Amino acid sequence: MREKIEKILNEVRDFNASTKEELDNFRITYLSKKGLVPALFADFKTVAPELRKEIGMQLNELKNIIQQKVEEQLQKFEGQQGDNSAIDMSMPATAMHGGRHPLSIVRRDINAIFEQLGFTIAEGTEVEDDFHVFSALNFPPDHPARDMQDTFFVTKNPDVLLRTHTSSIQVRVMEQGKLPIRIIAPGRVFRNEAISARAHCIFHQIEGLYIDENVSFADLKQVLYHFVQEYFGPDTKIRFRPSYFPFTEPSAEMDISCNICGGKGCNICKHTGWVEILGCGICDPNILISSGIDPEKYTGYAFGMGVERIAMLKYQINDLRLFFENDLRFLQQFEQA
Ligand code: DAH
Repeated sequence: MREKIEKILNEVRDFNASTKEELDNFRITYLSKKGLVPALFADFKTVAPELRKEIGMQLNELKNIIQQKVEEQLQKFEGQQGDNSAIDMSMPATAMHGGRHPLSIVRRDINAIFEQLGFTIAEGTEVEDDFHVFSALNFPPDHPARDMQDTFFVTKNPDVLLRTHTSSIQVRVMEQGKLPIRIIAPGRVFRNEAISARAHCIFHQIEGLYIDENVSFADLKQVLYHFVQEYFGPDTKIRFRPSYFPFTEPSAEMDISCNICGGKGCNICKHTGWVEILGCGICDPNILISSGIDPEKYTGYAFGMGVERIAMLKYQINDLRLFFENDLRFLQQFEQA
């Protein structure tokens, strides 16, 4: 026993690991459950009683020496791969491309303009039912927008679907029954459309809704005019064209003077000098009724705009697909965080 201890002592005395692996092997050879030192401890019961005290001390000393060696040498390898002790887990992550996605910038800036006017932000869910996306918004049962071609269905009967517009959030907010209502609701929407430079099956909208006593079309025009002046600059003009939406009466589409050619005519505005940016109108009394709001007492306006369209105008982007490709060469051209 004594010789065995001496032999191991000689082996380990000058051990100097040059890699972490070597040190691991060393520890395993001597200290692991099946290693040489535990084996000696197991043999200890065969030692004659009169020698036990002395051998026991030697054995403990041997174990301490080896343990100390492992601990000392471990420090050399700290920070190397596979060792987490030199990683500062509290360090903040660096932004992937050091900036913000242009759609986030647009949403943030538009939200800010309406928030200054007293609008609050509302949210809804992307998976919705037929009632909130269509029925409550006065879409007749055979309206083409309910067709499979436009809508992605999750289940049929009962109809669960991906919202095709953020107008569903109007219904959700009206249902809560707290009046007056003054919200804007940004969100992602889905339509079964072929992907091209001008269309995508996923895009974003911002919905606005104001319901109170004595709300008129003039209020709607003034708020939208203010928004356009703030967002696109004081030289920007607006115009309204009569339109149709099932949930507003009267309805309109709003154009702004093309901010790319300044109204002179270019490819983006198809040489008209104007580009459409949103739909809007006075809430149809039917939708107030279906949400339990008295249309004799309250009136309201609503509007909905496409975020991609606005981003394309603001930053002169000519292909909608760029927003979804996450190409760093594109993203890095926007605001750095
Ligand atoms: N939801 C309409 C769409 O997806 C946009 C819209 C038009 C929203 C008129 C409105 C509105 O709130 O009043 O095309």
